[in-house]
Amino acid sequence: MGWEGFADVASAGPWRQWREARPATSVLHFDTAAAGRSSIATLRAAASHAERESVVGAYVAQAEAEPVIEQGRSDLASLLGFPAAGLAFTESASAARAALLAAWPLRPGDAVAVTPSEWGPNLSAFAGVGLRRTELAVHEDGTIDLAGLAGLLAEKPPAFVHLTHVASHRGLVQPVTEAARLCNSAGVPLWVDGAQAAGHTQGPAGADVWYGTSRKWLTGPRGVGMLAVAERWWDRLQIADNPLGRSALRDQASPVRMLESAEANIAGRVGLCGAVREYLDLGPARVHKRLAEVGALTRQALGDLPGWTVHGSPAAPTAITALLPSQDQDVAKIRARLIAEHNIVTTDASPLRAPGEMTRPMLRISPHVDCTAADLAALRAAIEALG
Ligand SMILES: Cc1ncc(COP(=O)(O)O)c(C=O)c1O
Repeated sequence: MGWEGFADVASAGPWRQWREARPATSVLHFDTAAAGRSSIATLRAAASHAERESVVGAYVAQAEAEPVIEQGRSDLASLLGFPAAGLAFTESASAARAALLAAWPLRPGDAVAVTPSEWGPNLSAFAGVGLRRTELAVHEDGTIDLAGLAGLLAEKPPAFVHLTHVASHRGLVQPVTEAARLCNSAGVPLWVDGAQAAGHTQGPAGADVWYGTSRKWLTGPRGVGMLAVAERWWDRLQIADNPLGRSALRDQASPVRMLESAEANIAGRVGLCGAVREYLDLGPARVHKRLAEVGALTRQALGDLPGWTVHGSPAAPTAITALLPSQDQDVAKIRARLIAEHNIVTTDASPLRAPGEMTRPMLRISPHVDCTAADLAALRAAIEALG
């Protein structure tokens, strides 16, 4: 199917309902990789919880919401392939990563193996705790070379391998399941950054550690992150007891629950649990297939846009597309003008996202399942008009 024929599919059935379940807007959203659009039901669930806090008291409301949050914990854990007791809520993917780095048995000078496309802030966080970086061999499209990984694990095993499952800055999906198989048999833990993967692609089967966020492809509220640790690591986590007595959680649930932030956006967690239910009801495999299709059609629609080139493999099964300016267009200005003059939201993606392979800003386009050919045509025309 050419991208122009895409409207017939997108303007009917579940994807149309997906759009209709969200607040009506004249804004075209191509910015899910920054933050997705929550459904009205998700927004209401979060708002009702916030109101309930003011009616009965914040901690009473939290206790009332416990069954909803536990159901969400268990839904998320089974999607990701971890036990429910091994999943903790935080405020963001970055907060989750910080909690994990603080708790993991690491020593300064330990090596972490990463790909050249690694998310920049992860690299800074690793350097911040004194880790050494080892680079994984990759194929031309940026996916890891599994034979190279096997060689590294055999010859010079790092303290852990870290993969960003779905890259933030371009179409790139790492073969996490295959990498997990190799890491497991070598006894080297695999950490997976799933910030762009949750709700976008399949779970990280076999990973030892996973972390991500609510607000992107799962379209949950902002201010909520998640982490998960495989049971085989629970006893090795170094977790300081909390003076307010939360150490009971260590025995009742698991040490991983001690990594959950006590002061938290509970309304956001309630909203996320509803968003996860919506995703499960739609069918994760169907959503993933649709997002891959939306990405492919975006790349088709924009592939020959004068003055821009699509960066990364057009075949990557992701809805994230990066447009690299071929002249010296000012990407930040173009993004601002797309909003101000065309009601279109995109991302100005700075090289800090992936300093190992980005040298200049790109315009990131990341629609969700409801994207239509008319949306893509409007985006194309708007970018063309701006040069
Ligand atoms: C690949 C990746 N990792 C981590 C993060 C950080 O997520 P958060 O903003 O929830 O900390 C992002 C955010 O864009 C991301 O794209």
